[in-house]
Amino acid sequence: MTPDDSLTGSEKEGLYKAIFSRRDVRSHFVGREIPDDVLLRILNAAHHAPSVGFSQPWNFVLIKDRTIRQKVKESFVRERDRSIAMLDGNEQRQKQYTSLKLEGIMESAINVCVTYDPTRFGPFVLGRTSIEETGVYSVACAIQNLWLAARAEGVGVGWVSILANEDLGKILAIPEHVRPVAYLCLGYVSGFAEKPDLERAGWLPRMGLADVVCYEQWGVHQSEPWSALRAAIGRMGEGKREDNM
Ligand SMILES: Cc1cc2nc3c(=O)[nH]c(=O)nc-3n(C[C@H](O)[C@H](O)[C@H](O)COP(=O)(O)O)c2cc1C
Repeated sequence: MTPDDSLTGSEKEGLYKAIFSRRDVRSHFVGREIPDDVLLRILNAAHHAPSVGFSQPWNFVLIKDRTIRQKVKESFVRERDRSIAMLDGNEQRQKQYTSLKLEGIMESAINVCVTYDPTRFGPFVLGRTSIEETGVYSVACAIQNLWLAARAEGVGVGWVSILANEDLGKILAIPEHVRPVAYLCLGYVSGFAEKPDLERAGWLPRMGLADVVCYEQWGVHQSEPWSALRAAIGRMGEGKREDNM
């Protein structure tokens, strides 16, 4: 380690660019293969995520086979129909939901199922003794690494959670004790939208940072020792995040 190990200006710019321009992508896939060296870097980035007790409880099931993908797509269609039915009585929301493109299983270059194995280096996992979910949180960290590395490589990622885990387990021959955490669609895209699809479609807006930060205790939004930061957050309206860089 060097005494000051912080990133240089352009390195930081690259990191924040990946963070702010990362999108969940389910349309705009172009039919170009992801070269193995690119995929290797993306998977290796995922594999270097933090994990509780260094348990590295993830696996990455890589899927190209169209028959397997078709079966996953069928699970999506069933689960999507089930969610549409949950909106019975709210015709407007139901119509809006139905119009959304929520997966790119067949159109993407590859699919990746990221799983959680609670038995990895177990049963005693340092740090997981009080909060069981820290195992799954670790897998989520790997997924975010994958998502950001993919963005840096110009590869789009779409997370499909409208699926039955029991279906995934059977289709991908996942052992009983291993839990699918994410089903991801990866591929080069024609572009990354500036805003999330759901924001652009008017499904939900991005919340202000001020609405989600509180001081010292839950729900406290005024605090003298934090007044300067609070004012800075207040000045940082939506779309002005680059002011902070
Ligand atoms: C756990 C998780 C599950 C998600 N499942 C789906 C999904 O099934 N279908 C979909 O279209 N998007 C899914 N998304 C993507 C979100 O809708 C998306 O992240 C959010 O709208 C913000 O957009 P952005 O990722 O482009 O910033 C999921 C995201 C996460 C983190």
